[in-house]
Amino acid sequence: MQQYRTHTCGELTKKDKDKKIILSGWVNSRRDHGGLIFVDLRDREGLIQITFDPKVSEESWKTAENLRGEFVIRIEGKVILRPDNMINLKLKTGEIEVEVENVEILSESKTPPFEVEEIEGVDKAKDVKEDLRLEYRYLDIRRKKMRENLKTRHKIIKFIRDYLDKENFWEVETPSLTKSTPEGARDFVVPSRLHQGKFYSLPQSPQQYKQLLMVGGVEKYFQIARCFRDEDQRGNRQLEFTQLDLEMSFVNQDEILNLMEEMMIKLVEKLSDKKIISKPFPRLNYNDVMKKYGIDKPDLRYGLEIEDLSEIVKGCGFGVFADAIKKGGVVRAICAKGAAKFSRTEIDKLTEHAKEFGAKGLAYIIVKSESQKSKVFDLQSPIVKFLGDDLSQKIVEKMKGEPGDIIFFGADSEKIVREVLGQIRIELAKKLDLIDNKKLAFAFIINWPLFEEEFEDGHYAPAHHMFTMPHEDDLELLKNNPKEVRSYQHDLVLNGNEVGGGSIRIHKRDIQEKIFDLIGFSEEKKKSFEHMLKAFEYGPPPHGGIAMGLDRFIMILCNEKDIREVIAFPKSGDGKDLTMGAPSEVEKEQLDELGIKIKKV
Ligand code: AMO
Ligand code: AMP
Repeated sequence: MQQYRTHTCGELTKKDKDKKIILSGWVNSRRDHGGLIFVDLRDREGLIQITFDPKVSEESWKTAENLRGEFVIRIEGKVILRPDNMINLKLKTGEIEVEVENVEILSESKTPPFEVEEIEGVDKAKDVKEDLRLEYRYLDIRRKKMRENLKTRHKIIKFIRDYLDKENFWEVETPSLTKSTPEGARDFVVPSRLHQGKFYSLPQSPQQYKQLLMVGGVEKYFQIARCFRDEDQRGNRQLEFTQLDLEMSFVNQDEILNLMEEMMIKLVEKLSDKKIISKPFPRLNYNDVMKKYGIDKPDLRYGLEIEDLSEIVKGCGFGVFADAIKKGGVVRAICAKGAAKFSRTEIDKLTEHAKEFGAKGLAYIIVKSESQKSKVFDLQSPIVKFLGDDLSQKIVEKMKGEPGDIIFFGADSEKIVREVLGQIRIELAKKLDLIDNKKLAFAFIINWPLFEEEFEDGHYAPAHHMFTMPHEDDLELLKNNPKEVRSYQHDLVLNGNEVGGGSIRIHKRDIQEKIFDLIGFSEEKKKSFEHMLKAFEYGPPPHGGIAMGLDRFIMILCNEKDIREVIAFPKSGDGKDLTMGAPSEVEKEQLDELGIKIKKV
């Protein structure tokens, strides 16, 4: 069989002058210049210009007349230097071209439904409808951007595997056909043919298996694990996604965080040109984070911190503030530097945004100027007349307001104010152009409450998952004040995304049973976790770990806004695999074998 290539299209340079070479690839573009035909030939590694000159090979030149975009060809030829005026320094191969002596069309292509052609610095498929890109994903992947994203993904996963291998971790595969391993979403279920009427669940994570591996003495485990969660999809959520899942025995929380931190720093230094803004990563208390940033995954690339003003506005003349505090709520504010340039319409839009998150309004004070002598600010605001001049000045001072700033207020229950100002903070950062994509702001959030909400029936929902160890100092509180119990949960946040979550685990049967009770598990439900409780009776080591959402992490490193851009074959917004056409109906015989009858609801 013939040889398809001696080189790839991206690797030849002027050092290869006069070499006889063979290349194969796709026709990126073709330009007919009367006598000469120029083709940009593309493969995974790059682009190279090849020239068809009838004086060199009349037959090849004739074939070249019929070439169209995305045809696959094989050429033989000689590397020559481009004339000075044709040099293209943007291209790695831009100083040379290949004089074609022989060409063969390996396969033809219809005109693609969108442009695949690569032009330096231009993403021609940027505005193509995503459904079309997903239907023809194999063409979409030919585009430079997708290709680079997949390459980066490969490099990151390879780095992690090598790093953890050096740290003495073992990669162990755990089953996909299993029993429910809840992480707060619905399970995907798979009917069993051999055991009619019974179902496997696809794992929402390998959580229970990795804990059982610790009981099994594996001590240091990791897996690049596929997880399945039937939940609403958003930009950073997919029905199936990939975790870097890891677990260790005989570790404390700090040791888990140190390992992750070191690995992330080395990974970024090797594979990204972005800059980590704080090393070591800040380790922040959940309560402080919620107060300062309003959400549990703050973007720390910018300030715009939320300040509490409840104490100084208590009993003030502005009913909205005074009432909020009287009802046990809070008044908090953000000072937006330089926001005074916002138009009235922009402020109204922000107010609408605040209302979408439950606010009743978005009071504000614009700081216009400052009298040089008296340190008095000239303020413009619908609420100053109610607050009075003194209090208004005091607020501006406390918020470190300066001329050109706007102070935005939230007054309501603490829950609503956090949510609203948390979202307004993000919106302000966008509007004030404070988000620098070259920066990476990692942080660990620790000291979470064990439970995040109390249901009306007196039961609790775990903030992370039900295998998370309560803080050792708070074990007593489990008896009569579970809401106050802290846990050994840790989240890793990056640029406003939750990219990882984990904890030290419960390894004692009695504590695990107590948690099951607090969550409100029936005896039957408890029985479905009996394998965990039983395992804890056979010398379970203390253990803990973390799982990183690899898609989200890679998305950030690739400057993408949606994890679909870093997944080869993602599901569409409504959960379909548009390339394969899944989900799809199955044959009646298959259903009969499974003992399943479809009931349309
Ligand atoms: P958790 O549920 O927090 O923890 O998941 C860990 C990380 O996985 C990512 N992630 C997702 N990424 C894409 N699409 C989704 N639908 C999705 N859901 C979660 C997030 C998240 O931080 N077993 C525990 C880990 C542990 O305790 O060790 C777990 O799965 O980045
Ligand atoms: P009102 O007295 O309702 O006209 O409100 C005066 C200002 O306070 C307006 O700018 C409202 O947007 C704002 N406002 C009203 N309710 C709240 C609230 N709960 N929190 C923050 N601002 C509010």
